[in-house]
Amino acid sequence: MDKIVALCKRRGFIYQSSEIYGGLNGFWDYGPLGVELKRNVKDAWWRDMITNHDEFSTPPGAPQSFSMVGLDCSIIMHPQVWKCSGHYDLFHDHMVDCRACQARFRVDHVKSSECPLKPSKHPGEHDKCQLTEPREFNLMFKTTLGALGGAEDTAFLRPETAQGMFVNFKNVLDTVRAKVPFGIAQAGKSFRNEITPRNFTFRSREFEQMEMEFFCHPSQSFEWYKYWRDRRYNWYLNLGLSREKLQLRDHTKDELSHYSVGTADVEYAFPFLEAGEFGELEGVAHRGDFDLRSHMEGKLVRDASGNLNPELGADGKPKYPGSGKDLMYFDDQTRERYVPHVIEPAAGADRATLAFICQAYTEDHQPDEKGEMQERVLMKLHPKLAPIKVAVLPLVKKDGMPELGLGIYRDLKSAGIPAYFDQQAAIGKRYRRQDEIGTPWCVTVDGQSLQDKTVTLRDRDTLEQTRLPADKIVDEIAKRLRG
Ligand code: GAP
Repeated sequence: MDKIVALCKRRGFIYQSSEIYGGLNGFWDYGPLGVELKRNVKDAWWRDMITNHDEFSTPPGAPQSFSMVGLDCSIIMHPQVWKCSGHYDLFHDHMVDCRACQARFRVDHVKSSECPLKPSKHPGEHDKCQLTEPREFNLMFKTTLGALGGAEDTAFLRPETAQGMFVNFKNVLDTVRAKVPFGIAQAGKSFRNEITPRNFTFRSREFEQMEMEFFCHPSQSFEWYKYWRDRRYNWYLNLGLSREKLQLRDHTKDELSHYSVGTADVEYAFPFLEAGEFGELEGVAHRGDFDLRSHMEGKLVRDASGNLNPELGADGKPKYPGSGKDLMYFDDQTRERYVPHVIEPAAGADRATLAFICQAYTEDHQPDEKGEMQERVLMKLHPKLAPIKVAVLPLVKKDGMPELGLGIYRDLKSAGIPAYFDQQAAIGKRYRRQDEIGTPWCVTVDGQSLQDKTVTLRDRDTLEQTRLPADKIVDEIAKRLRG
């Protein structure tokens, strides 16, 4: 993991936020290559969910065809949203303090009653080390609206993007005339005041989510739940995560969130975890009718027989009243009115990006120009995710090679293919630079190119070199990117 973090810094993928001031715990900046990689991850998700979705065909494993639309909601929403969603009362972690070193931990991160920092933080203090009783800590970031700043002006940065989709359910129904089953997708920033941000970008205080709320008839909800579980698991496999390191795990009853009647996590064996441990990439939850009903009726609680009813305050009225708006769906063919059930695949863009980086990091040994074996560090990123798809490299900086190379570089750019032009340093060194940032292909302009207008196309993983006419490079790369 240390090598991966160092590479991310060295090559401009991820920097510590506010680094010149010593950094800020739980916040990260994406550098010139990182921003492209994360954008490619989000684009791959958006294309899969929205752009490439064909609403007239039934995808394999799905009960029927369906439509999908996107949204981009505000980060600060009406405070009542979080009261009705349950986040205001229930979005807590339990924290404990170490009396010996004053460090604070999430209680579920402490494996025994001893301070997890021992012995590095306070050697010799082992016997004194005691943890306080767990205390609740709400994870939502508070902010104040307007200049007056009274208690009623308190608002929250959203801890999830999901609620924007629920409160706009009726708007979407009315404006695009969506028919159940359909999904609403959104990608954007979320904020959680994590007690112990850690493991690089894995647990941050500001991060991006890619969430989709799928509204369906209650009688079909388990079929859809299974469909989305499998489909989301396969999305990660198709973009390069290995089957050995990726797992789909059903939650036990104790683990289920307050709203969920069934959840499965897509998990990855990140290198900072112990052998056999997995970290969550995405949760796929069957949320039933909890959210739409909460925003109609007010915050719901489950009674002894498992039914959801509005939680009542001391005065016998709903503790947090809902909007009172009708968020039911009317099926004009069956004439049925009902509250749709929701299946929610909720992914993290930063965690997915980190998993792709960890999976891609590879060390091998290859002969250099003199035939001596050298260690090579490469990032085997899927071509669809790689920040730069092609590097154009003139063998030497003379004899018309740079001009020919620049022509290819410009053709690639105008075809919308992210390309890079580099004529500095020995060719072997330039290949290694590209391997290390995950560029799948290098085009080399050499002496022969000047004679017959052909160039070599080098593959990052196999190191195979193919000679092609220079004017066929754009088509060839476009074909490989589609494949
Ligand atoms: N709407 C449901 C929801 O937000 P979640 O499991 O709390 O579910 C979904 O979050 C995903 O968001 C997680 O699987 C993870 O990928 C990402 N995520 C959550 N907290 C995060 C954090 N502190 N840092 C980075 N990513 C986080």
